[in-house]
Amino acid sequence: MSRKGSTMSAPEETAPYGTGAAPSGTAAVKRVRTHHLREWKEQGEKFTMLTAYDMYTAQVFDEAGIDLLLVGDSAANNVYGYSTSLPVTVDELIPLTRAVAKSAKRALVVADLPFGSYQASPEQAYLTAVRFMKEAEAHAVKLEGGLEMVATVRKLVEGGIPVCAHIGFTPQSEHTLGGYRVQGRGDAAAKVLAEAEALSEAGAFAVVMEMVPGDVAAQVTQTLTIPTIGIGAGNQTDGQVLVWQDAFGLRTGRMPRFVKQYADLHGVLLEGARAYAAEVRSGAFPAQEHTF
Ligand code: KIV
Repeated sequence: MSRKGSTMSAPEETAPYGTGAAPSGTAAVKRVRTHHLREWKEQGEKFTMLTAYDMYTAQVFDEAGIDLLLVGDSAANNVYGYSTSLPVTVDELIPLTRAVAKSAKRALVVADLPFGSYQASPEQAYLTAVRFMKEAEAHAVKLEGGLEMVATVRKLVEGGIPVCAHIGFTPQSEHTLGGYRVQGRGDAAAKVLAEAEALSEAGAFAVVMEMVPGDVAAQVTQTLTIPTIGIGAGNQTDGQVLVWQDAFGLRTGRMPRFVKQYADLHGVLLEGARAYAAEVRSGAFPAQEHTF
């Protein structure tokens, strides 16, 4: 059910209210669908997306009410230890996507199409996206690119696959773009807007904007009827996305300016691992109560 109580299409997709206060906002939806994002945009309700790559994080983020889970190709850096997102393959991402899709009861699960698995042609993109939908049970796919991806988005959508577009800084094009740089400054703002409009026209259900000036992202958001999702794009987009290892401090070191750290998981795990090691070494663990 949409938050202001009006436009829910299927009663069975309304969360049971139980005995407490009726859930409001995006929380009232039992299973997030692409049409909910559009309704939330129309109603001025912001929504949330986080990356997830495994069962436990998917369960926790789902329980926390995160609306979309992205099995990002950022698994390259955050799961597989590659230095960019370029090396990760479809075969590496499918098991992660399957784990997330099986674990999320409410969130809409979006699978990222990795570099080289969709750029050759709309047909290649379709066959790759079908693998994510059939083998991993993703609910939608995401792909990077602007005008050059319009025909591909149209092909996938016509073939029954919801597509989230991704413009601005697109990490798979890091080497073409000359590194991690803000996109859409000055005259380049018009390009960002034109790309967003064309991808929306082609049938994308949402568009991620990464590292785009806040005023440009705001203008795109006001212009489009489909929702925008920002990462380093200011606070005027309809939704926000962050990579979870950045947001919750599992990754340490220099962080992009757009990251806010909400927890210190590195510290928690380090402390736990050190305590465990010390107790094993001292003989304090396992104690009598851990022994059969
Ligand atoms: O792969 C990823 O994590 C992403 C987000 C940065 C949007 O594409």
